[in-house]
Amino acid sequence: MQVELVNLTKKFMGVTAVNRINIDIKDGEFVAFLGPSGCGKTTTLLMVAGIYKPTEGDILFDGVRVNHLPPKDRDIGMVFQSYALYPHMSVYQNLVFSLMLKKRPKTEMQAEAQRVADIMGIGHLLDRKPGQLSGGQQQRVALGRALIKKPKLLLFDEPLSNLDARLRISMRSEIKKLQNSLGITSIYVTHDQIEAMTMADRIAVIKNGVLQAYTEPEELHDRPRTLFIAEFIGNPPMNLFDVRLEDSGGKMYANLGEGIKLEIPPSRKPKVEPRGSVKMGIRPQDIIIDNNSDLRTEILLIEPMGRDDLIVCRVGNIEIHFLVDPVLKLKRGDSVGLKFDMEKAQFFDTETEKSLLWQ
Ligand SMILES: Nc1ncnc2c1ncn2[C@@H]1O[C@H](COP(=O)(O)OP(=O)(O)OP(=O)(O)O)[C@@H](O)[C@H]1O
Ligand SMILES: [Mg+2]
Repeated sequence: MQVELVNLTKKFMGVTAVNRINIDIKDGEFVAFLGPSGCGKTTTLLMVAGIYKPTEGDILFDGVRVNHLPPKDRDIGMVFQSYALYPHMSVYQNLVFSLMLKKRPKTEMQAEAQRVADIMGIGHLLDRKPGQLSGGQQQRVALGRALIKKPKLLLFDEPLSNLDARLRISMRSEIKKLQNSLGITSIYVTHDQIEAMTMADRIAVIKNGVLQAYTEPEELHDRPRTLFIAEFIGNPPMNLFDVRLEDSGGKMYANLGEGIKLEIPPSRKPKVEPRGSVKMGIRPQDIIIDNNSDLRTEILLIEPMGRDDLIVCRVGNIEIHFLVDPVLKLKRGDSVGLKFDMEKAQFFDTETEKSLLWQ
């Protein structure tokens, strides 16, 4: 099913929780709503579900306005953070609850429960009560309960936040695989940018109820159009420096202060005339150790991140974060030379916070 949100707005007693959001979702697409707590993700999702009425704007399913359609007539399945399973009912009864309400024959309910339980890998748990299941198994039941209705649209609201880190990663790929194979259009609300980046075809970044960007994960990561997106996307976060842009001998340089002056390659020259000082961004993975470099720094802190170590170092008042291979066995207090891959640098207007490279 194709979904369109047109100027969608929700006000609660003077507070604008969602402000004129425009989003189109293709049939079969997996879209994430991503943004910090309180930005309006759940409110938007609940309007799509029909639980909240929009203050203004429209919701279209396959081109048909559904603003006034009650939730039960919208062909949607919902999965929440709290699994909201009925504790006194078995897994089987939880799964078939919506079919029971529709008074479907028992044989059909049994066949359907078996079908979704097998998809979710919980076929052997049908007789258990939710209290006898692990968090991950409960979340599978919740997902199965949404799928049994054969919905045309799946809505997820932070479904994995109650699970431990390892289970979260495996459920992430399970949900993605499942969505891919079933081809059900899905909206997935999360404040976890890694979840959004790894699962979604497109990501809607929301801040204060306003849509900041709606595009593919790679585009958000490589060509952030605002400072907010640059800061919010990517782990560990991007380094940001206040710099002056200087022309000399036909070349352009970013002057970070503390004697650090970096040449800006032609591909990264701001396309928009900057006003005064600008923000330069560079990701920790785009800074490498180069002991021939004039840029010398002292290591302040080493934070193991699994595959890499995150190194925090300082030049005068400037703090720089970069990633290294743990085999290098760097130590606090070591002096290293650094090289910035300026082909990956970002520049933003300090006032408007808009990118000077991508508009
Ligand atoms: N029923 C309500 N009445 C009044 N204000 C509300 C109501 N529901 C949400 N809000 C407000 O609307 C804004 C958006 O809330 P929403 O729940 O959509 O945020 P969210 O992005 O889902 O955040 P989180 O990541 O914390 O779940 C918040 O400022 C919130 O306080
Ligand atoms: Mg929410």
